[in-house]
Amino acid sequence: MKVSASILTFVAAASASCLRGTSLLPRSADGKVAANSFNYTNTGGPLNWYGLDSANSACSKGKNQSPIVIDTEDIDYAKASDIHFHVPHANAAKFENLGSGLEVVLTNGTLTTKDNTYKLAQFHFHTPSEHRINEEYYPMEVHFVFESSASDIAVVGFVFELSQFGYSTPLFDNVFAHIDDIASPGTYTMTNNLDFSALTGHLNSHGIYQYSGSLTTPPCSESVAWFLSTEPLPLNVQSYNAVKHILKYNARYTQNALGQDNLLEVAANELN
Ligand SMILES: *[C@@H]1O[C@H](CO)[C@@H](O)[C@H](O)[C@H]1NC(C)=O
Ligand SMILES: *[C@@H]1O[C@H](CO)[C@@H](O)[C@H](O)[C@H]1NC(C)=O
Ligand SMILES: [Zn+2]
Repeated sequence: MKVSASILTFVAAASASCLRGTSLLPRSADGKVAANSFNYTNTGGPLNWYGLDSANSACSKGKNQSPIVIDTEDIDYAKASDIHFHVPHANAAKFENLGSGLEVVLTNGTLTTKDNTYKLAQFHFHTPSEHRINEEYYPMEVHFVFESSASDIAVVGFVFELSQFGYSTPLFDNVFAHIDDIASPGTYTMTNNLDFSALTGHLNSHGIYQYSGSLTTPPCSESVAWFLSTEPLPLNVQSYNAVKHILKYNARYTQNALGQDNLLEVAANELN
Protein backbone atom coordinates (compact mmCIF):
# COMPACT_ATOMS: atom_id res chain seq x y z
CA MET A 1 0.00 0.00 0.00
CA LYS A 2 1.43 3.31 -1.01
CA VAL A 3 0.36 6.41 0.81
CA SER A 4 1.86 9.79 0.78
CA ALA A 5 1.03 13.26 1.82
CA SER A 6 2.84 16.34 2.78
CA ILE A 7 1.99 19.58 4.32
CA LEU A 8 4.19 22.53 3.98
CA THR A 9 3.69 26.22 3.96
CA PHE A 10 5.87 28.96 2.58
CA VAL A 11 5.83 32.55 3.67
CA ALA A 12 7.15 35.29 1.48
CA ALA A 13 10.09 37.29 2.64
CA ALA A 14 8.01 40.42 2.27
CA SER A 15 5.64 39.18 4.94
CA ALA A 16 8.32 38.55 7.51
CA SER A 17 7.06 41.19 9.90
CA CYS A 18 3.63 39.55 9.85
CA LEU A 19 5.16 36.42 11.29
CA ARG A 20 6.39 37.99 14.47
CA GLY A 21 4.43 36.76 17.41
CA THR A 22 2.78 33.93 15.52
CA SER A 23 3.13 30.28 16.42
CA LEU A 24 5.84 29.98 13.79
CA LEU A 25 8.44 31.32 16.07
CA PRO A 26 9.90 29.90 19.24
CA ARG A 27 8.26 30.96 22.46
CA SER A 28 9.94 32.43 25.48
CA ALA A 29 11.95 29.84 27.33
CA ASP A 30 10.56 30.89 30.69
CA GLY A 31 7.24 31.15 32.37
CA LYS A 32 3.88 30.39 30.92
CA VAL A 33 3.12 29.81 27.28
CA ALA A 34 0.86 32.38 25.60
CA ALA A 35 -2.07 30.51 24.04
CA ASN A 36 -3.22 31.67 20.61
CA SER A 37 -6.53 33.53 20.21
CA PHE A 38 -7.57 31.84 16.96
CA ASN A 39 -8.97 28.34 17.11
CA TYR A 40 -11.00 25.80 15.13
CA THR A 41 -14.44 26.31 16.71
CA ASN A 42 -17.36 28.61 15.88
CA THR A 43 -16.34 32.23 15.23
CA GLY A 44 -12.74 31.56 16.29
CA GLY A 45 -12.37 29.09 13.42
CA PRO A 46 -10.74 29.35 9.99
CA LEU A 47 -13.76 30.82 8.20
CA ASN A 48 -13.44 33.87 10.44
CA TRP A 49 -9.68 34.28 10.98
CA TYR A 50 -9.73 37.54 9.01
CA GLY A 51 -12.64 38.67 11.20
CA LEU A 52 -10.47 38.14 14.28
CA ASP A 53 -7.67 40.36 12.97
CA SER A 54 -7.37 42.29 9.70
CA ALA A 55 -3.65 41.36 9.69
CA ASN A 56 -4.95 37.94 8.61
CA SER A 57 -6.22 39.18 5.23
CA ALA A 58 -4.26 36.51 3.32
CA CYS A 59 -6.48 33.91 5.04
CA SER A 60 -9.54 35.17 3.14
CA LYS A 61 -7.98 36.79 0.07
CA GLY A 62 -4.81 34.86 -0.74
CA LYS A 63 -4.79 32.73 -3.88
CA ASN A 64 -1.99 30.36 -2.87
CA GLN A 65 -3.31 29.12 0.43
CA SER A 66 -2.56 25.88 2.26
CA PRO A 67 -3.55 23.16 2.89
CA ILE A 68 -4.47 21.78 -0.50
CA VAL A 69 -5.41 18.50 -2.06
CA ILE A 70 -2.18 17.15 -3.52
CA ASP A 71 -2.81 15.50 -6.87
CA THR A 72 0.10 13.09 -7.21
CA GLU A 73 -0.11 13.25 -11.03
CA ASP A 74 0.08 17.04 -11.01
CA ILE A 75 2.28 18.16 -8.11
CA ASP A 76 6.02 18.88 -8.42
CA TYR A 77 8.48 16.54 -6.73
CA ALA A 78 11.72 17.59 -5.06
CA LYS A 79 14.71 15.27 -5.34
CA ALA A 80 15.86 13.97 -1.97
CA SER A 81 19.39 14.99 -2.97
CA ASP A 82 18.23 18.60 -3.35
CA ILE A 83 16.93 18.83 0.22
CA HIS A 84 19.21 18.61 3.24
CA PHE A 85 17.14 18.25 6.41
CA HIS A 86 19.29 18.06 9.51
CA VAL A 87 18.16 18.13 13.13
CA PRO A 88 20.78 17.03 15.66
CA HIS A 89 19.94 14.75 18.57
CA ALA A 90 18.39 16.66 21.51
CA ASN A 91 18.36 15.38 25.08
CA ALA A 92 15.04 17.12 25.72
CA ALA A 93 12.93 19.95 24.33
CA LYS A 94 10.05 22.07 25.51
CA PHE A 95 6.63 20.74 24.39
CA GLU A 96 3.89 23.38 24.57
CA ASN A 97 0.09 23.43 24.37
CA LEU A 98 -0.76 26.67 22.52
CA GLY A 99 -4.49 26.01 22.52
CA SER A 100 -4.49 26.04 18.74
CA GLY A 101 -1.88 23.28 18.62
CA LEU A 102 0.98 21.35 20.24
CA GLU A 103 4.47 22.61 19.51
CA VAL A 104 8.02 21.43 20.22
CA VAL A 105 10.42 24.34 20.57
CA LEU A 106 13.70 23.24 19.05
CA THR A 107 15.90 25.60 17.08
CA ASN A 108 18.93 23.35 16.54
CA GLY A 109 18.27 22.22 12.99
CA THR A 110 18.81 23.33 9.41
CA LEU A 111 17.17 22.90 6.04
CA THR A 112 19.15 23.55 2.88
CA THR A 113 17.36 23.54 -0.46
CA LYS A 114 18.52 24.44 -3.96
CA ASP A 115 17.37 28.01 -3.33
CA ASN A 116 17.83 28.79 0.33
CA THR A 117 19.19 27.93 3.77
CA TYR A 118 16.88 27.90 6.77
CA LYS A 119 17.06 27.40 10.52
CA LEU A 120 14.50 25.34 12.46
CA ALA A 121 12.01 27.40 14.50
CA GLN A 122 9.73 24.67 15.91
CA PHE A 123 7.68 21.65 14.92
CA HIS A 124 4.00 21.03 15.63
CA PHE A 125 1.13 18.64 15.00
CA HIS A 126 -2.31 18.66 13.39
CA THR A 127 -5.15 16.16 13.91
CA PRO A 128 -6.51 15.24 11.47
CA SER A 129 -4.08 15.94 8.63
CA GLU A 130 -4.41 19.26 6.82
CA HIS A 131 -3.13 18.14 3.44
CA ARG A 132 -5.01 15.50 1.53
CA ILE A 133 -3.34 13.22 -0.99
CA ASN A 134 -5.53 12.42 -3.99
CA GLU A 135 -8.47 13.60 -1.83
CA GLU A 136 -7.63 11.24 1.07
CA TYR A 137 -6.95 12.62 4.56
CA TYR A 138 -4.71 11.09 7.26
CA PRO A 139 -5.11 10.91 11.06
CA MET A 140 -2.21 13.25 11.88
CA GLU A 141 0.39 15.50 10.28
CA VAL A 142 3.61 17.07 11.62
CA HIS A 143 5.10 20.35 10.35
CA PHE A 144 8.77 21.27 10.82
CA VAL A 145 8.88 25.05 10.37
CA PHE A 146 12.11 26.65 9.15
CA GLU A 147 13.01 30.30 8.66
CA SER A 148 15.86 31.86 6.64
CA SER A 149 17.90 34.85 7.75
CA ALA A 150 15.73 36.92 5.35
CA SER A 151 12.59 35.48 7.08
CA ASP A 152 11.60 33.22 4.18
CA ILE A 153 9.67 30.24 5.51
CA ALA A 154 9.91 26.58 4.53
CA VAL A 155 7.94 23.72 6.04
CA VAL A 156 8.83 20.04 5.91
CA GLY A 157 5.78 17.87 6.59
CA PHE A 158 4.93 14.24 7.15
CA VAL A 159 1.53 12.58 7.41
CA PHE A 160 0.92 9.58 9.63
CA GLU A 161 -0.98 6.38 8.96
CA LEU A 162 -2.23 4.12 11.77
CA SER A 163 -0.30 0.84 11.91
CA GLN A 164 -2.32 -2.36 12.13
CA PHE A 165 0.80 -3.99 13.62
CA GLY A 166 1.27 -1.46 16.42
CA TYR A 167 4.33 0.10 14.78
CA SER A 168 5.18 3.67 15.65
CA THR A 169 7.91 6.22 15.03
CA PRO A 170 10.09 6.21 18.21
CA LEU A 171 11.01 9.89 17.79
CA PHE A 172 7.36 10.87 18.22
CA ASP A 173 6.74 8.38 21.04
CA ASN A 174 9.46 10.33 22.86
CA VAL A 175 7.83 13.66 22.00
CA PHE A 176 4.46 12.45 23.34
CA ALA A 177 5.85 10.68 26.44
CA HIS A 178 4.45 13.30 28.86
CA ILE A 179 1.58 14.65 26.77
CA ASP A 180 -0.93 14.10 29.58
CA ASP A 181 0.84 16.90 31.51
CA ILE A 182 -0.22 19.52 28.95
CA ALA A 183 -3.96 18.95 28.69
CA SER A 184 -4.59 22.66 29.39
CA PRO A 185 -3.79 25.39 26.84
CA GLY A 186 -0.92 27.56 28.05
CA THR A 187 1.03 24.72 29.70
CA TYR A 188 4.24 22.95 28.73
CA THR A 189 6.26 19.88 29.59
CA MET A 190 9.56 18.37 28.42
CA THR A 191 10.03 15.66 25.81
CA ASN A 192 12.23 12.62 26.26
CA ASN A 193 15.42 12.47 24.17
CA LEU A 194 14.87 13.10 20.46
CA ASP A 195 16.79 11.27 17.74
CA PHE A 196 15.92 12.53 14.25
CA SER A 197 18.16 10.19 12.22
CA ALA A 198 15.37 7.73 11.28
CA LEU A 199 13.11 10.62 10.24
CA THR A 200 15.85 12.04 8.02
CA GLY A 201 16.33 8.56 6.54
CA HIS A 202 12.59 8.32 5.85
CA LEU A 203 12.56 11.71 4.11
CA ASN A 204 15.63 10.86 2.02
CA SER A 205 14.44 7.44 0.91
CA HIS A 206 11.00 8.43 -0.46
CA GLY A 207 9.58 11.01 -2.83
CA ILE A 208 8.93 14.60 -1.71
CA TYR A 209 5.98 16.70 -2.91
CA GLN A 210 6.88 20.35 -3.38
CA TYR A 211 4.79 23.48 -3.86
CA SER A 212 4.59 27.15 -2.88
CA GLY A 213 1.67 27.79 -0.49
CA SER A 214 0.96 29.49 2.82
CA LEU A 215 0.98 29.11 6.56
CA THR A 216 -2.12 27.10 7.49
CA THR A 217 -2.65 29.28 10.59
CA PRO A 218 -3.01 33.07 10.95
CA PRO A 219 -1.69 35.23 9.39
CA CYS A 220 -1.80 32.67 6.47
CA SER A 221 1.24 34.37 4.89
CA GLU A 222 2.15 33.13 1.41
CA SER A 223 5.37 32.18 -0.42
CA VAL A 224 5.90 29.34 2.04
CA ALA A 225 8.05 26.59 0.49
CA TRP A 226 6.31 23.29 1.26
CA PHE A 227 8.05 19.91 1.18
CA LEU A 228 5.93 16.90 2.10
CA SER A 229 7.17 13.32 2.28
CA THR A 230 5.21 11.04 -0.05
CA GLU A 231 5.36 8.16 2.44
CA PRO A 232 3.36 8.28 5.71
CA LEU A 233 5.03 7.57 9.04
CA PRO A 234 3.58 4.77 11.18
CA LEU A 235 1.59 5.71 14.28
CA ASN A 236 0.15 3.28 16.79
CA VAL A 237 -3.44 3.58 17.96
CA GLN A 238 -2.54 4.34 21.59
CA SER A 239 -0.35 7.33 20.63
CA TYR A 240 -2.96 8.57 18.19
CA ASN A 241 -5.74 8.46 20.77
CA ALA A 242 -3.52 10.16 23.40
CA VAL A 243 -2.64 13.00 21.01
CA LYS A 244 -6.20 13.43 19.75
CA HIS A 245 -7.46 13.56 23.33
CA ILE A 246 -5.24 16.60 24.04
CA LEU A 247 -5.04 18.23 20.61
CA LYS A 248 -8.76 17.71 19.79
CA TYR A 249 -9.13 19.14 16.27
CA ASN A 250 -6.86 21.63 14.52
CA ALA A 251 -6.99 21.21 10.77
CA ARG A 252 -7.79 24.15 8.49
CA TYR A 253 -10.30 23.29 5.76
CA THR A 254 -8.89 22.45 2.33
CA GLN A 255 -8.15 25.57 0.29
CA ASN A 256 -8.83 26.22 -3.38
CA ALA A 257 -6.39 24.95 -6.02
CA LEU A 258 -3.16 26.98 -6.19
CA GLY A 259 -3.61 30.25 -8.09
CA GLN A 260 -7.42 30.15 -7.93
CA ASP A 261 -9.56 32.72 -6.09
CA ASN A 262 -9.77 32.28 -2.33
CA LEU A 263 -12.82 30.15 -1.47
CA LEU A 264 -14.05 32.79 1.00
CA GLU A 265 -14.10 35.42 -1.78
CA VAL A 266 -15.86 32.98 -4.09
CA ALA A 267 -18.48 32.23 -1.42
CA ALA A 268 -18.95 35.92 -0.51
CA ASN A 269 -19.57 36.77 -4.18
CA GLU A 270 -22.19 34.02 -4.38
CA LEU A 271 -23.97 35.47 -1.34
CA ASN A 272 -24.09 38.98 -2.76
C1 LIG B 1 -12.72 29.91 19.93
O1 LIG B 1 -12.61 31.30 19.67
C2 LIG B 1 -13.85 31.98 19.86
C3 LIG B 1 -13.64 33.41 19.37
O2 LIG B 1 -12.55 34.01 20.01
C4 LIG B 1 -14.25 31.89 21.32
O3 LIG B 1 -15.49 32.55 21.52
C5 LIG B 1 -14.40 30.42 21.69
O4 LIG B 1 -14.65 30.31 23.09
C6 LIG B 1 -13.14 29.64 21.35
N1 LIG B 1 -13.44 28.24 21.53
C7 LIG B 1 -12.53 27.37 21.97
C8 LIG B 1 -12.97 25.94 22.06
O5 LIG B 1 -11.39 27.70 22.26
C1 LIG C 1 21.79 23.04 20.52
O1 LIG C 1 23.13 23.22 20.15
C2 LIG C 1 23.93 23.88 21.12
C3 LIG C 1 25.28 24.16 20.53
O2 LIG C 1 25.81 22.99 19.93
C4 LIG C 1 23.98 23.03 22.38
O3 LIG C 1 24.71 23.69 23.38
C5 LIG C 1 22.54 22.80 22.89
O4 LIG C 1 22.57 21.92 24.01
C6 LIG C 1 21.68 22.19 21.80
N1 LIG C 1 20.30 22.13 22.25
C7 LIG C 1 19.63 20.99 22.36
C8 LIG C 1 18.21 21.12 22.79
O5 LIG C 1 20.10 19.91 22.11
ZN1 LIG D 1 1.10 23.33 10.78
